[in-house]
Amino acid sequence: MAADWRIPFNRPAMAGRELDYVRRAIEDGHISGGGSFTSRCQDLLRDVLGTEAVILTTSGTHALEMSAILLGIKPGDEVIMPSFTFVSTANAFALRGARIVFSDIRMDTLNMDEDQLPSLVTERTRAVVPVHYGGVGCEMDSISSICGPLGIPVVEDNAHGLFATYRGRKLGTMGRMAALSFHETKNITCGEGGALVVNDPSLVSAAEIVRDKGTDRSRFLRGEVDRYTWVSLGSSYQPSDMLAAYLLAQLEDRQKIWERRSFLWNRYMDGLAPLAAEHGIRLPAVPAHCSHSSHVFYLLMPDRPSRDGLMDGLRNRGILAVFHYQPLHLSVMARGEGHCPNTISAASRILRLPIYPGLTESEQDTVMEGVRETIEGGLR
Ligand SMILES: Cc1ncc(COP(=O)(O)O)c(C=O)c1O
Repeated sequence: MAADWRIPFNRPAMAGRELDYVRRAIEDGHISGGGSFTSRCQDLLRDVLGTEAVILTTSGTHALEMSAILLGIKPGDEVIMPSFTFVSTANAFALRGARIVFSDIRMDTLNMDEDQLPSLVTERTRAVVPVHYGGVGCEMDSISSICGPLGIPVVEDNAHGLFATYRGRKLGTMGRMAALSFHETKNITCGEGGALVVNDPSLVSAAEIVRDKGTDRSRFLRGEVDRYTWVSLGSSYQPSDMLAAYLLAQLEDRQKIWERRSFLWNRYMDGLAPLAAEHGIRLPAVPAHCSHSSHVFYLLMPDRPSRDGLMDGLRNRGILAVFHYQPLHLSVMARGEGHCPNTISAASRILRLPIYPGLTESEQDTVMEGVRETIEGGLR
């Protein structure tokens, strides 16, 4: 619970108009999905990203599940993704029966190591799913140049990097589709929510059908058919308009949220760089051709004991710092398939510091002081 910590790991951003908009959704009498707030969020995201269509979903996980259904993933198909990611990236495709093939990550950005892709692709590869870790873009040019000629669709997992760019292009607009997350921990949130970015025009109406429980209800609502019926596989992926109302307030204030996060991220970087250099600690790396979303600020400690020691030192001061992800290729479900030493190394050494718009500068100073004192006090 956030309240139990002097400085919690996360406090969801409140832009200001959330409650007004939620009240308006309720007063308008349209609280199921597909109301005016849903449309406004979708249109705003489509226009800002400059893409074909954006479909709000009940979570980032569900956006990934929709992409797997839309690609017709079936048992025997292979889907390549990094081992260093959240469970949902894999689970969404495993649900369709796919075998997940894990790539390792680059040690600089902790993103999928694009150089491994050629050796992982087989004639059964049906999708590649790069994850823009911390909102820093994967090497999309290399990934596209490998997948494009082979006709392998790319689905970007952009749960972290909304509005960030790679070589001037918005993350989430370079693959055939992309998943966004609006979970409480994300930069822009409505508690639980997500979106499927559909960059391929030929998939837009199919995506509506998958979202609408496998029916052509959207065509019916537009007057294109006189009744709607079951036409393909699908599920119930549309969020309530009350959640869309909350989300719209956040999206409208995206610049303010972005600037505050960037400010805090840069302040961590400036404040901790000398200490990191002195103690062999690695801070986040952002290639010059990427603008990032300041979603994560991490320290890569020299080893697991020093990571655990720093985490304990901060917790003793009432500061919650956390680590993630457990290497997916070593999970019970993946049964150890894959060779991902960088993933194992990063997962055992990473520690994420609190970063959110409501973090005050004095709280951030307390976090940095805690890091400094714990490290200089000797970790073991
Ligand atoms: C990389 C990544 N992909 C997907 C997800 C799933 O998003 P959601 O929690 O909205 O289902 C997350 C959530 O943390 C994530 O970090």
